[in-house]
Amino acid sequence: MIYLDNAASSFPKPRPVIKAVTRALGTLWGNPGRAGHKKAMAAMRMIYETRVALAGLLGLTDPERIIFTKNATEGLNIALKGLLKSGDTVAISRLEHNSVTRPLNTLKQSGVKVVYAPVDEYGLPDPSKIPDVKMLAVTGASNVTGAILDTKTIGEACAKKGVLLLVDAAQSAGSIPFDTSRIDILVGTGHKALLGPQGTGFAWFREGITPEPFIEGGTGSNSESDMTPPFLPDKFEAGTMNTPGITGLKAGVEHVRRLTVQGVREKEISLVTLIMDALSNEPRATVYGPADPARRGSLISFNIAGSDPAQIATAIDRRGVAVRVGLHCAPEGHKFAGTFPQGAVRVSPGAMTRRKDVETFIRILRRIIKDAK
Ligand SMILES: Cc1ncc(COP(=O)(O)O)c(C=O)c1O
Repeated sequence: MIYLDNAASSFPKPRPVIKAVTRALGTLWGNPGRAGHKKAMAAMRMIYETRVALAGLLGLTDPERIIFTKNATEGLNIALKGLLKSGDTVAISRLEHNSVTRPLNTLKQSGVKVVYAPVDEYGLPDPSKIPDVKMLAVTGASNVTGAILDTKTIGEACAKKGVLLLVDAAQSAGSIPFDTSRIDILVGTGHKALLGPQGTGFAWFREGITPEPFIEGGTGSNSESDMTPPFLPDKFEAGTMNTPGITGLKAGVEHVRRLTVQGVREKEISLVTLIMDALSNEPRATVYGPADPARRGSLISFNIAGSDPAQIATAIDRRGVAVRVGLHCAPEGHKFAGTFPQGAVRVSPGAMTRRKDVETFIRILRRIIKDAK
């Protein structure tokens, strides 16, 4: 199978990631933070080293303020539900994933106001029109149109207005270089461009920003206290951690550091360019999002006039290529692109994708478009 669904989850995983997870299952079996014996200490050290590696990759100065979660969704829920209270207003872009909009829709019922920020032509917040709100929650790169947020400019604009900036980096961490110096809350996932295993994710909170946790329990620290420790990361890491997953995430982060985020970016831009050029030669094809591959992440959502996207995706799948069709858990982005409710076909190469596989996909797609009269 040719795998071109990296925006959903990356594959193949680098060999060091597979090895690290296997090794962790065989050797890191102590419960991190729960005992003084060698194996528990080794597991704890590994988790700490992962925080340091991730902070280094993302340019974050305080690794202890990174908390590990099971995915980006959990991190977003912790941030949104733990920070927003009745009477607060949060602004979002036109491209948010359900993992931002669904928690916010629930929060509306307890008195949180949710508004759209004025946006640019790509559906991302216009930095010159940041509204007077408590928080701007915005995707770092859309999983529908690929549009990339300029985190530096938005961050500076938010800082000027005293607005907290939350960036959902599920589609950008590990594959798009971005400035984190003015981000207040950064949430990401481990299993996409960070090349780690599924079941891993993270959230980082700038010093001074500490949400209320909604999961509490044993942390291995302050055990004499009847309350959850107030400090990070323990406040958000109650219960036994996903040591094998986090060990794999460390190997993924190290692999990205070897490739460099810029190197991954350049490779992905060249693969995206190949696919976009091929689609531009198809008069019936419509591609959504920025026309310039340098302004988009590594994904292309498209439709073929006269054909249902599900029909095109099924034909692609039958020929042995994995892509994703539909609404991609992001109906907002599809409404903005004008592709709601049918959605679009999305093809997403990744850091581990071979050029020759993209070329094969293009040949297959040409044939499918020709046949879909
Ligand atoms: C922009 C965006 N945000 C959040 C998520 C959720 O990520 P996860 O499934 O790891 O929770 C995704 C996943 O597709 C995404 O693309």
